[in-house]
Amino acid sequence: MTRHAFAKAASTTVPVHPLLAERWSPRGFDREHELGDEALTALLEAARWAPSSQNSQPWRFLVTRRGEDAHGRLFAALGPGNQAWAGAASSLVLVAARTADDGGPQRWALYDTGQAVAALVTQAQADGLSVHQIGGFDTAAVRADFGLDSTLTPIVILAIGRRDGTAELPEPLAAREAAPRARRPLGDLLLPAAAESVPAAA
Ligand SMILES: Cc1cc2nc3c(=O)[nH]c(=O)nc-3n(C[C@H](O)[C@H](O)[C@H](O)COP(=O)(O)O)c2cc1C
Repeated sequence: MTRHAFAKAASTTVPVHPLLAERWSPRGFDREHELGDEALTALLEAARWAPSSQNSQPWRFLVTRRGEDAHGRLFAALGPGNQAWAGAASSLVLVAARTADDGGPQRWALYDTGQAVAALVTQAQADGLSVHQIGGFDTAAVRADFGLDSTLTPIVILAIGRRDGTAELPEPLAAREAAPRARRPLGDLLLPAAAESVPAAA
C-alpha cells in the first residue's frame, strides 16, 4: 500500500499522482479567504478544456462569490446539513448540463459535465484550493430562481475555497472531517471477465 504523510490521502496499491491522492472534500473552509478573479478563471479554464462528446461542451456554470446576492440565493437552496458548513467557502458554483438541444436529448451531457468538474477540481487542488461537491440542494428552487429552461439540468453546487483545518464544525460533521477516507477495494470495480489483468486487484 502507498501511504502519504497526509492523513486524508488515498491509500493506494501503487502510487498515484499526489494531486489525485491528496484531494478530498472538506467541510472546514476559511471564511476570510476570497477567491480572486484569476484563481476563479483558472478553474473555469480547466473545465472549459475538458473533453466532450463531439466537442459539444455541455457544461454551464453559475458562479457566485460569498457576499453576493446570487451566492445567498444558492446558499438558500442547500439542504440544512450542507448549510451547516458550505457558507464559509469562498464561492458557490452551480453546475448545470445542457441535456437537450435542437438535436433532442444529449446522451453524454451529464458524463461530459462530470469530466469538466473533475478537471476543475484537479486544477483547484493544484492551486491550493479545495472543492466540495454538493448534490443535496433544491434543484426546482434553483431552476425557478435563476430561470433555467428545460434544456438545462442542474447537477451539483460546488463549494470552493481554502481549507481550514481549525474550523469549528457541529457533530457529526466534525467526526467525518477527521475520519480516514475509504474506498471499495480495486477488485470490486472490475468486471469478472478482465479481473485477472489487474494483479493488484487479485
Ligand atoms: C455528485 C456528488 C454529490 C455530493 N453531494 C454531497 C452533499 O450533498 N453533501 C456533502 O457533504 N457531500 C457531498 N458530496 C461529497 C461526497 O460525499 C464525497 O466526495 C465522498 O464521500 C468521497 O469523499 P472525498 O471526496 O473526500 O474523497 C457529493 C459528491 C458528489 C460527487
